[in-house]
Amino acid sequence: MSELKIYPVKENIAANALIDDAGYQKMYEQSVVNPEGFWREHGQILDWIKPYTKVKNTSYDPGHVDIKWFEDGTLNVSANCIDRHLATKGDEVAIIWEGDNPEEDKSLTYNELHKEVCQFANALKAQGVKKGDVVCLYMPMVPEAAIAMLACTRIGAVHSIVFGGFSPEALAGRIIDSNSTIVITSDEGLRGGRAVPLKQNVDQALTNPDTKCIEKVIVLKRTGGDVAWTEGRDLWWHEITENASEQCEPEEMNAEDPLFILYTSGSTGQPKGVLHTTGGYLVYATMTFKYVFDYQPGDVYWCTADVGWITGHSYLVYGPLANGATTILFEGVPNYPSTARMSEVVDKHNVSILYTAPTAIRALMAKGDEATAGTSRNSLRVMGSVGEPINPEAWEWYYRAIGDEKCPIVDTWWQTETGGILITPLPGATALKPGSATRPFFGVQPALVDNEGQIIEGATEGNLVMVDSWPGQMRTVYGDHERFEQTYFSTFKGMYFTGDGARRDEDGYYWITGRVDDVLNVSGHRMGTAEIESALVAHEKIAEAAVVGVPHEIKGQGIYAYVTLNAGEEPTPELHAEVKQWVRKEIGPIATPDVLHWAEALPKTRSGKIMRRILRKIATGDTGSLGDTSTLADPSVVDKLIEEKAKVV
Ligand code: WT7
Repeated sequence: MSELKIYPVKENIAANALIDDAGYQKMYEQSVVNPEGFWREHGQILDWIKPYTKVKNTSYDPGHVDIKWFEDGTLNVSANCIDRHLATKGDEVAIIWEGDNPEEDKSLTYNELHKEVCQFANALKAQGVKKGDVVCLYMPMVPEAAIAMLACTRIGAVHSIVFGGFSPEALAGRIIDSNSTIVITSDEGLRGGRAVPLKQNVDQALTNPDTKCIEKVIVLKRTGGDVAWTEGRDLWWHEITENASEQCEPEEMNAEDPLFILYTSGSTGQPKGVLHTTGGYLVYATMTFKYVFDYQPGDVYWCTADVGWITGHSYLVYGPLANGATTILFEGVPNYPSTARMSEVVDKHNVSILYTAPTAIRALMAKGDEATAGTSRNSLRVMGSVGEPINPEAWEWYYRAIGDEKCPIVDTWWQTETGGILITPLPGATALKPGSATRPFFGVQPALVDNEGQIIEGATEGNLVMVDSWPGQMRTVYGDHERFEQTYFSTFKGMYFTGDGARRDEDGYYWITGRVDDVLNVSGHRMGTAEIESALVAHEKIAEAAVVGVPHEIKGQGIYAYVTLNAGEEPTPELHAEVKQWVRKEIGPIATPDVLHWAEALPKTRSGKIMRRILRKIATGDTGSLGDTSTLADPSVVDKLIEEKAKVV
């Protein structure tokens, strides 16, 4: 069995890494025996304006969940990511931008980044943006995305980034919930040779009458494509920054002032605005970046994530820049214009640390040698994986074909809510087992509990919880603290529930088995089944819908949707296409169902609850063991569904 394979740390790697296994053991021990002392010391990884005297003040008590770190300290995020490096690294490269088109690239030194961020921060101020205001970013992957983020932090505005692949409807929902006052976007984005009409989507979103909170739309010219213009509301980025001052004093922020909101999906209702605050988040992103990737001066680091996801926040922008690293921001996709693009970018920029997702790895693996053709990838030293469990076959291929068996793979488990990586190998410290995220990072105390919430010890499997807080933890659901407590702290009282299941082996290694709630992970993108279902039933011809995940070779999980039409409607091929298109419009392309199953009826209990367990089994063809169906209101529904499945395309 492949999971028995172990890759010990190579001696040369341990010798040159920041930390070896003995070092890890010692530091981990300190971090959990005395978290207060540990974080008092390691909070110093940042420059503080007013030093903190208090370190940890956190409670997971039901009804009183309250999380504060470094609460009396003050600092500024952009000053930590830029200004403090200027004296020693002003002329070193902060951001390398690699365009969708391989012929387009540019780089920004720390000095240049400082100038751009200050100018844009001043431009925002001139538009009336103040400390505490929420600024919505709907941007392509260009340096200005990072510049806008840092400019917000410079003046104490709270950014809320919406992934450019989300639809106008999804964007409007996030603007309304966060009460954003400004949207920053571009004329168009460019991905895989195709233009994405970002400004047009913003215009469309703002036709929603509840988006009146938006006063201005700032538009970056990226492609030069045609855009509609609303005088008095729309402003060109280049025009408002042109004459802006190149100096902007960083705002002094309290450690617990909000830094950003980022929406993520849960098992119920609308996406939640995950709120991260300033001090703890940045301490944690900075420290995890350093140790997990074994960052050392001279490294060139490339994270392929989009800024619209938490990985793009913590490990594309904040973690790397706070460490004074060189970070690559890539506009395109890993297999355009050729299958070898990812490998080519590694060679072109001498990337030493590569951080990508299993879905990309599997897509390249399917193409075999084409994915590395004509490249050496000699510069690589450490490789990372994030977003979903990596299957051992993909791990082995990544290790062998991309890393030439030289580079340790850090399989990093974490979540939007956790702010930074919680379970992960460290390159010089951890023997690797393909498919396992291995051990907790410093200060992280995972546990497994059974369904009654009892902690279970030793080699076992259960629900993954955290028994105590870490600095990067989310503080609340924006505008709904009750929902925060309900979602994360009520299932297992006094613990943070991750929503994931995991197994722990005899070496104490964790193997994430996936979500145990109604959350899907499609190509590393997180989606609630409830969200897709409500998009489906919003269609005038649909009466009812139920969505389940099914294994998918490249995407990890695919979306399987059971759809019941209103009486009198016929399931035609045209309607099939229309329904898929409808979901794209409501949420975005990433939510498009892979399979539509026209169902005459759904299996329900007598109290009307849909039995998803049965739907999951039918979707995967596992109909030999449907379990107890006697509680169904109408057991014949099951046979009908199995019959229909044969006709599903
Ligand atoms: C969910 C969080 C963290 C940034 C990207 C996703 C799954 C994430 C791993 C991993 C197994 C993983 C979990 C988690 N997940 N990384 N290395 N191994 N599962 O962030 O959108 O908040 O999703 O992604 O199920 O709960 P997210």
